[in-house]
Amino acid sequence: MQVCREISDLRTRVAQMRAEGETVGLVPTMGFLHDGHMELVRRARAECDRCVVTIFVNPTQFGDPADLATYPRNEARDLAMLEQAGVDLVFIPDASQIYPPGDETIVETTRLANTLHGKVRPGHYRGVTTVVARLFNIVGADRAYFGEKDYQQLQVIKRMVRDLHMPVAIVGVQTVRERDGLAMSSRNVRLSAEDRKAATVLSKSLDLAQSLASKGADIAEIGNSLRATINAEPRATLRAVDIVQSETLAPVSGALSGPVAILLSAEFGGILLIDQREIIP
Ligand code: PAJ
Repeated sequence: MQVCREISDLRTRVAQMRAEGETVGLVPTMGFLHDGHMELVRRARAECDRCVVTIFVNPTQFGDPADLATYPRNEARDLAMLEQAGVDLVFIPDASQIYPPGDETIVETTRLANTLHGKVRPGHYRGVTTVVARLFNIVGADRAYFGEKDYQQLQVIKRMVRDLHMPVAIVGVQTVRERDGLAMSSRNVRLSAEDRKAATVLSKSLDLAQSLASKGADIAEIGNSLRATINAEPRATLRAVDIVQSETLAPVSGALSGPVAILLSAEFGGILLIDQREIIP
């Protein structure tokens, strides 16, 4: 496995792969890897000749400097996991590589970035699209892999790629969960033991929503059940329950006539967790 820290070095190595006619799969991450990230790597390896992983804790997507400063990092462990998984190339740039001095260009999906979770975290999705566009330009992958857990992020990236005619196929990968249902996240290690247990209420409420949908419940009933279930957990502070049309993230109401996405966010001891699930009637 090769590790590159310079854009020019990365480009030379990817060019060699391309010269040999190989397809390149890209998995962008912020490191502190867990099995959710590794599922993206497995998919990329299965579907592409070469797999490139990026590790970059992107400052422009953090609103709160304290959140950025305390974001968990463990490069040595990440590299060992990626090597073990058979990754070909890891790109670990520093911020001045990605954001050169005097940098002033941003990429933003103007509507999708500023709805739902984007309202709670102003500028967050602009930071994500700005860094992902740069990573796409640097690596030049055929396919790039993103988790459905960050559902709005996935839709924002798909929209950016479509609108800007970027020559990369975006692949969404199902959420990987702990045995008790909690969606895997780098933030989970920050939860106290009690909050870690309480946080399973998110996936439980989503399972309940699917069983209500199967019994013919409408959107209002499903929304009420989600709010009641999460509010019944004293350690949870509910931030948002959104039931939306999958691609546009537009709100839906009334009877459930086809698949919709449920996006949840709640805080546990000050740690914001998100979860999502697509439900079908
Ligand atoms: P990060 O949070 O490190 O996540 C990297 C990728 O792993 C994202 O596509 C995310 O959706 C996916 N992922 C995280 N947890 C997952 C889980 N439990 N199951 C499946 N996939 C999961 O998301 C980011 O980094 C950044 O915003 C990034 C796209 C790298 C841009 O900076």
